[in-house]
Amino acid sequence: MRVIIGSDHAGFQAKQQLTQHLQDQGHEVEDLGTHTEESCDYPLIAKAVAQKAVAEHAFGILICGTGIGMCMAANKVTGARAALPYSTETATLAREHNNATILCLGARTMTDKQREQYTDFFLRTPFSGDERHAKRVAQVDAI
Ligand code: RB5
Repeated sequence: MRVIIGSDHAGFQAKQQLTQHLQDQGHEVEDLGTHTEESCDYPLIAKAVAQKAVAEHAFGILICGTGIGMCMAANKVTGARAALPYSTETATLAREHNNATILCLGARTMTDKQREQYTDFFLRTPFSGDERHAKRVAQVDAI
């Protein structure tokens, strides 16, 4: 899979760790920053990753302290569907039911193992394509 990843300063170390995990599995990862632990503003990273992921039909991954700010900002981008999971089940359902293509993760609220697991379930799960879900996703996109 092609994955575009980004984080703020709070998510920097987690981004480095998850990038290595993804590359070990053979995924192609493009890192849009941040590249240091110096304080920065998460909305700018969320915008860059979400716009590129939508334009290139790629997956996006965004990490901040909680994942909340990244999720709020990414979902402002037209065509973006970003989800913040709290279990492997919700990571899976975000793909199956919601056709989310951007995964938001918390650096301060999840362990390395949880972030890896949520990411693995998210990337391996296709959208179900069921008519009822497709209709609702289209309604979300139209808002
Ligand atoms: C930064 O301290 C923190 O507010 C940010 O990483 C994120 O958690 C916001 O949602």
